[in-house]
Amino acid sequence: MADISIIGAGYVGLVTGACLAELGHNVVCIEINPARLSMLQRGILPIREAGLDELVARHRSTGRLSFTNDFARPIPASQFVFLAVNTPPEPSGRANTSFVFSAVRSVLEHARPSLTIITKSTVPVGTGDEIARMVGQQGIRGVQVVSNPEFLQEGKAVKDFLQPDRIVVGAETLEAGKGVAQLYQGIHAPIIQCSRRSAELAKYAANAFLATRVSFMNEMSSVCQAAEADIEEVARILGADRRIGSSYLKAGLGWGGSCLPKDVRALASTFDHYGCESSILKAVFAVNLGQRKQAFDQLRQAVDGVPSATVGVLGLAFKPETDDVREAPALDIITRLLEDGIQVRAHDPIAAPNARLLLPGVHYCEDAYGVADGSHALLLATEWPEYLALDWREVRSLMRGRVVLDGRNVLDGRLLTTLGFTYLSFGRLASQKANGHRMRPALVVDDASD
Ligand code: NAD
Ligand code: UGA
Repeated sequence: MADISIIGAGYVGLVTGACLAELGHNVVCIEINPARLSMLQRGILPIREAGLDELVARHRSTGRLSFTNDFARPIPASQFVFLAVNTPPEPSGRANTSFVFSAVRSVLEHARPSLTIITKSTVPVGTGDEIARMVGQQGIRGVQVVSNPEFLQEGKAVKDFLQPDRIVVGAETLEAGKGVAQLYQGIHAPIIQCSRRSAELAKYAANAFLATRVSFMNEMSSVCQAAEADIEEVARILGADRRIGSSYLKAGLGWGGSCLPKDVRALASTFDHYGCESSILKAVFAVNLGQRKQAFDQLRQAVDGVPSATVGVLGLAFKPETDDVREAPALDIITRLLEDGIQVRAHDPIAAPNARLLLPGVHYCEDAYGVADGSHALLLATEWPEYLALDWREVRSLMRGRVVLDGRNVLDGRLLTTLGFTYLSFGRLASQKANGHRMRPALVVDDASD
């Protein structure tokens, strides 16, 4: 079993630390954010992830997992150091690697000769080479630099870490790669060993590819809408082809979160850096923004001319099962509605406190029915299971208008139409046929008189 330090105890660092402790290693997480560190040292988790509380609690008590801000204590005792710090976007889209290099400098002050430094953070191709240069300048012998990108999804991070599709180890020597691969003993997954630069680039390619699939389906949804085809049926047919597969084919408001938007832009900036054309990536990004604009335009049209117009928004997180609102489509759309003078009522089962910090001007409600109360139009922005089980008769009686925009293509459009709603979606046939329109359905707002 190895002695491991992890720099950064955010989503990736904390999950990596807890899971490596579960595999039997001794792990110290080094975190410089005082508020986050203080919570972790008291056993309180700053993020919500299924199963993470149990793992952290278990290994705080086995003594295999601890937290500090002091590099001087754990680093000299560590054989492996994982870098799991943030790599946020610069205004140009390029990934800001200053946190990575700052962490490396702190590590190198205390590093022992046989240390292996492993990048888990998503970093631009060539970052490992730069770290190796820094190691060389310090003159510490035998330090290895390995890329081991992380592919976990928020909301199922622990499961993804312990049961991954693959583990990628990018190293310049077989020995360094083998050492890192051995840390994962106990996990049954193919280990792909490759060059450090391929590993770094493949991480961006994976996220950009997922974003591309979704944007492709979102573009398809507009032609489905125009041609009276159903995007869900098209997706099912595509997904049945084993060469294509069925994931990331869901049309709607598009992708948000802390990673897909930032990584698509960062990869495009890598193309620019190497003088390569990235026309696909630019289009993928533009289509994604277009979905949000389309939703805003539809909602604005739905409340056009209505005095004290109010739009209700169900869901604020960028996807269900997380309280993360970074780059969430809902927040973008709400910002535009507020700027346009439209009042917004909103709910999310767990993400409302995070949204409130960014958008204090929203009326946050206890539940979905509170959102519906007095709203002229409703947007479903995050497909939380509780929104799929709403009593839509009750919703209708509370609303002042009839428009429901299904931003995730998950509601029963026929039922809603039967109940008298004007059901709008992203390319589902139910919203076209049921409303009796050839192209885009008319947008109707009426009083709650029926
Ligand atoms: P995060 O912001 O949640 O956590 C990063 C942590 O690092 C913060 O707590 C910060 O205070 C800490 N930190 C920064 N500099 C430090 C230093 N010098 N010493 C000690 N601590 C330091 O970020 P995250 O979501 O965990 O992402 C980390 C990296 O992993 C990013 O590159 C991201 O792209 C990548 N990634 C994220 C996910 C995800 O789902 N969130 C998945 C795969 C990869
Ligand atoms: C994503 C990747 O899936 C992870 O593999 C990767 O490790 C991570 O980024 C990262 O590098 O940080 P995550 O940010 O948790 O994980 O989000 P996803 O579950 O991939 O969803 C991203 C967005 O795409 C969400 O807003 C979701 O609603 C949207 N989406 C997803 C669609 O609009 N349609 C789909 O069919 C699938």
